[in-house]
Amino acid sequence: MTDHPTFSPDLLSGKRILITGGGTGLGRGVARHLVDHGAEVHLWGRRETILAEAAQEASAGREGAVHYHTVDVRDYDNVDETMGRIWDEHGPLTGVLNNAAANFIAQTEELSPRAFSAITGTVMNGSFHTTHAAGKRWIAEGLRGSVLSTLTTWVWTGSAFVVPSAMAKAAVHSMTMSLAVEWAKYGIRINAVAPGPIPTDYAWEMLNPTDKSSVGATQADQIPAGRTGTVEELANLTMFLLSDACDYLTGQTIAMDGGQMLAGPGTFAGLTSLTNADWKQIKETSKAASEASKAQRTV
Ligand code: HXC
Repeated sequence: MTDHPTFSPDLLSGKRILITGGGTGLGRGVARHLVDHGAEVHLWGRRETILAEAAQEASAGREGAVHYHTVDVRDYDNVDETMGRIWDEHGPLTGVLNNAAANFIAQTEELSPRAFSAITGTVMNGSFHTTHAAGKRWIAEGLRGSVLSTLTTWVWTGSAFVVPSAMAKAAVHSMTMSLAVEWAKYGIRINAVAPGPIPTDYAWEMLNPTDKSSVGATQADQIPAGRTGTVEELANLTMFLLSDACDYLTGQTIAMDGGQMLAGPGTFAGLTSLTNADWKQIKETSKAASEASKAQRTV
């Protein structure tokens, strides 16, 4: 991360941007850059202490630049009520970043219905709920707006061993194309980014729980550019897409993966070489990470 803004420091001045899943991972990393470029940022997540820490980190001492709210994006009423509070207490959003995700690698036949719903409810339903709650307010008030969703290249290729995530992200890709057409007349843009692997603490644990699981293509030597992406690169693309610099750009999902998708099969195809015993170990390790995270939730 550089210590100075990459673009003009007022690129996002006057913007009020919501980041779902903003307490951890990519959302947390991107937040700081949005603030550095003049935006007011709202972070949503399920763990209050983690959100408070993330807000403190992203604001870097700028009073009032970052706010946070405990929200479960799977629950429409919770989303709509919190969106109303942002509108009333802070003012209308100008942008929404659908970043909240849930994912872990697993053999699909081993998934329980609750596991499927936890992932699809967060990624697909959560992105719809948040987009709908902001979009209907923009339309009612004649305001312009911009929605950006964080997807993966699986929307084009599918990916073995992350089937609920691949299905849900493909649905959000479809929402992006569909709503771009429906809401263009209101000045609302709908886009998405599809980053390749970018290491962040928790997601990395879920996607690389054991040494064996590294045959899934999250490793630098499996990427044509020879490295994984960085949060700063994702932040740069995010800021451009949420800025007024690309007002004519809508309905697109933009891959940023060092050429990975064009060079080989879906991200986790390599895991077909694992044995059931490997998978047993993966499940134990990644479930322990899930449980540790769950223990900190306040909603
Ligand atoms: C198998 C698991 C599991 C695991 C949970 N479950 N973790 N099954 N392996 N590792 C099962 C549980 O046993 C339970 O089913 C069900 O899933 C719901 O679990 P809960 O913990 O109650 O659900 P929830 O609180 O919603 O937690 C969701 C989560 C968790 C998926 C488990 O990971 C999460 O919230 N993650 C948020 C952050 C995240 O994962 N980001 C991913 C970003 S990576 P039963 O039937 O037992 O009750 C990404 C793409 C990366 O999106 C792209 C790389 C290229």
